[in-house]
Amino acid sequence: MTATAGPKAEPVDLLSPEVVADPFGWYARLREEPLAGHGTLNLGTMMGGPDMWLATRYDDVLQVLTDPRFLTNPPADSPMADIRDGIFKRMNFPEDLIPWMANKLNSADGEEHTRLRKLVSYLLTARRVNALRPRVEKITEDLIDRMVAQSSDGSPVDLVEEFCFPLPVTVICELVGIDEEDRADWHAWGNAMATMDAPNIPPALRKCIALSRELMARRRVEPKDDLVTALVQAQAEDPSRVSDDEIVGILFSLVTAGHQTTTYLIGNSVLFLLEHPEQLARLKADPSLWAQAVRELQRLGPLQFTQVRFPSEDVELGGVTIPRGAPVAPLLLAANTDPRKFPEPDKLIVDRLTVANETHLSFGKGIHRCLGQHLAYQEAEVALHALFTRFPNLSLAVPRDELPWILRPAFTRTKTLPLNLA
Ligand code: HEM
Repeated sequence: MTATAGPKAEPVDLLSPEVVADPFGWYARLREEPLAGHGTLNLGTMMGGPDMWLATRYDDVLQVLTDPRFLTNPPADSPMADIRDGIFKRMNFPEDLIPWMANKLNSADGEEHTRLRKLVSYLLTARRVNALRPRVEKITEDLIDRMVAQSSDGSPVDLVEEFCFPLPVTVICELVGIDEEDRADWHAWGNAMATMDAPNIPPALRKCIALSRELMARRRVEPKDDLVTALVQAQAEDPSRVSDDEIVGILFSLVTAGHQTTTYLIGNSVLFLLEHPEQLARLKADPSLWAQAVRELQRLGPLQFTQVRFPSEDVELGGVTIPRGAPVAPLLLAANTDPRKFPEPDKLIVDRLTVANETHLSFGKGIHRCLGQHLAYQEAEVALHALFTRFPNLSLAVPRDELPWILRPAFTRTKTLPLNLA
């Protein structure tokens, strides 16, 4: 097979209003209708960036995530070297802030990635996360009590604002060690990032960088049982393990990765379950199914794609040869709804996946596989079980087609989710 020179035909704009308004429909079309002469692949673009190959079938996406030749950084000598920073330059972002916009762990390759990942991974193991469960349950119950009080006159409650958002943000802030008084600033940062609210990102980012540095200084003097303390202690033992800027970057990675994703997993899952009453009835009859159900809900979950990869050499993928350095976007949602892997893929079937072998790609795979998966599953399981137990008659308070979907790429989510509790 000869090396294909690179994408040429008309690319699909992943940011276009049609695509963001109907991700399930578009991703299915991209998967089932590959571009002529491009094997099983398609072409896309985003935010005015260069053309990218789009991997949409399960096997192709899995290969992009697990083949060690696919890196998260383009080769330094390739025309793609500026691809990430270029997005922010086009948004007129202050130059000094651009390096902070990359997820520190996610955007590292090779030994740098292994070193940073090791520092964080032991704090998020299944065992440590299980020990957190009573605390997650307590935060959940408190939020539910607050919603009950708010809705004592029978008025609807916005689940996103009152529950889906505060639960994960409180948990991740406690785990990382963000002090209570600083959390509103981190919320503002998370919100600005999630909505790509360009004017508000720089001030929110500057504020949180300063807060991170102050926090590190405080924990050096007064250690606590949290991740910031663990990181500054690791640095004190051996300064070559992690620099100050890397610690700040790790805090950003965790707080950003740890709340928006889980917020919308919980919100979308409530909606899915209300729309699949027969599956909800199965969960009510047998609560032991929740652990499996959150895996199936995550298969159809909010994340549409993850970061672009770049082959370190020419690589065969989906029947074509991708040239070294060409960007390839793994479309997770398309893979998770590939009928070759999941029969009747658009159907929610709460016991489709098992805890031991969940197969979906929503947490990625390979060396960058999500470090927060145990935490995200635990939060979703505790939250959904508690909500549907406390409110057996939970229902949408507005017609389905009036839900305000946020038309942004990468995530499928509604801005608000007004519900009747009783
Ligand atoms: C519904 C919830 C979540 C989803 C859908 C999700 C999704 C993902 C995906 C797809 C990746 C792999 C990215 C890639 O390969 O390019 C990833 C990586 C990561 N996630 Fe999550 N995540 C979730 C929750 C969390 C939580 C709660 C945390 C923190 C506690 C977290 C922390 C991370 C980190 C640090 C990485 C980078 C790992 C690395 O590059 O080695 N995530 N996540």
